[in-house]
Amino acid sequence: MAEPILQVRGLVKHYPLTSGILFKKQVGSVKAVDGVDFELARGETLGIVGESGCGKSTVAKMLVNLEKPTAGEIRYKGEDITRLSGKALKAVRRNIQMVFQDPYTSLNPRMTVGDIIGEAYDIHPEVAPKGDRRGRVQHLLDVVGLNPEYINRYPHQFSGGQRQRIGIARGLALRPEIIVADEPVSALDVSVQAQVINLMGRLQDEFDLSYIFIAHDLSIVRHISDRVGVMYLGRIVETGRDAEIYDHPTHPYTQALLSAVPVPDPEAREHRERIILAGDVPSPTDIPSGCRFRTRCWKARERCALEVPALAVPAGFRGVPGPAAHDSACHFAEEKQVVPPEEPGDIAHGASGPHGAHREDSPEEGGQGSGPG
Ligand SMILES: Nc1ncnc2c1ncn2[C@@H]1O[C@H](COP(=O)(O)OP(=O)(O)O)[C@@H](O)[C@H]1O
Ligand code: SF4
Ligand SMILES: [Mg+2]
Repeated sequence: MAEPILQVRGLVKHYPLTSGILFKKQVGSVKAVDGVDFELARGETLGIVGESGCGKSTVAKMLVNLEKPTAGEIRYKGEDITRLSGKALKAVRRNIQMVFQDPYTSLNPRMTVGDIIGEAYDIHPEVAPKGDRRGRVQHLLDVVGLNPEYINRYPHQFSGGQRQRIGIARGLALRPEIIVADEPVSALDVSVQAQVINLMGRLQDEFDLSYIFIAHDLSIVRHISDRVGVMYLGRIVETGRDAEIYDHPTHPYTQALLSAVPVPDPEAREHRERIILAGDVPSPTDIPSGCRFRTRCWKARERCALEVPALAVPAGFRGVPGPAAHDSACHFAEEKQVVPPEEPGDIAHGASGPHGAHREDSPEEGGQGSGPG
C-alpha cells in the first residue's frame, strides 16, 4: 500500500475535571479519546461510527487542530502535525478541512454566503488573489449544486440541505486534500441526507479528496465508506473494509449497532434479531477495567475485566483468510451476520439517486431557500 495520507497513532484527549472555586484542583479527567489508531489512504473514505459521546467530534477536532491532543501522533504524509507551528502548521491546516454537523449553527447568520465561503481566502490569499475571489466563490456554489447568483444571500434564506452545501463549499474553498466531515447529515431530513451524501461522493472524485466521514448510525456511512471504524467510549473497537464490518462483524458492540440499522426489505426485517444493550454508556471519567464494553456486553466473562483486548485480528481468525479476519478488540470475537447482505441496487436509509446528478432541487431543497434575494 502506498504511504497513507493520514496516520493516527495512540491519539488521546483527556479533559481535566476540576473541583473548587478559588483553588482549582484536578480530581479526575474526562477520557474523551483514549488511544485511537487508524490510517487513511489517498482517495479513500474512512467512516467513523459510534454512539453520541464516544469521542468522534473530539477526534475530528484534533485532526483539524481545533483541539490539541493530550498524547499521540497525527501524521500527514509522514509528518507529525501535532508538533508543527507557524507557517508549517498553516500550510497543513489548509489541506485538512472540516465540515460541521449542524448547518444551522455553523454558519454565521450575519455574513453573506459569499463572505462565509470566501473568508478562508483572507488567511490564505495565495489560493485566491483578491480580484479572483468572487468568481471562485461562484464556481464553488455551482460545484455544490447551488445557484451562483445566491452569493449575496444570508444563511437563513436557505434550507438545511442547502446550508450544508454551503458548509461543504466552505470546506472546499482552499482545495484541501482531506475533508473531515463530522456528522454532516445528522441534522438533515432523511430525504435530504442521501442528496448530500451523493454530492460528497461526486466531489470526492472531482477534487481527489480523502474523507473521514463521521456518523452515529452505521447505515449512513455504508454507501460512502471504503473502510469503517466503530468507536466505543474513546476507542476504536472494530475496524475493517465496508463488507467486513457490515456482513461479518465480530465485535459484540458492532453487532448490536447493526441490529438497530434500518433494513429495507420487510421480510428480512421481521427475521432479524434485535440486540438490546443493557445499561447506559459508562461515564468517560470512569472507564471500566479490561474491556471497556464489558458492562454492557452479553458475552462478558472474568477475563474481560482483567485484560484489555487489543485491536487486532482475533486469535481464532488468524491464519484463516476471509472477511471475518479483520481487527476487532474482543477476547471472544465471533462472526455473526446481523443484517442480510445487500443485493446490488438495494437502497438503505433513503440513500438513492444518481451519483452524478448535478443540481438536486427537491421540494425541501428549493422550499425555504427560494425567498427573495
Ligand atoms: N471541552 C470539553 N471538556 C470536557 N469534556 C468534554 C469536552 N468536549 C467533549 N467532552 C466530553 O468528551 C466526550 C466525547 O465527546 P464528543 O467527542 O463530542 O463525542 P461524540 O462526538 O462522539 O458525540 C463526551 O463525554 C463529552 O461530554
Ligand atoms: S472482550 Fe469480553 S466484554 Fe469485551 S466485547 Fe469481547 S466478550 Fe464482550
Ligand atoms: Mg459529535
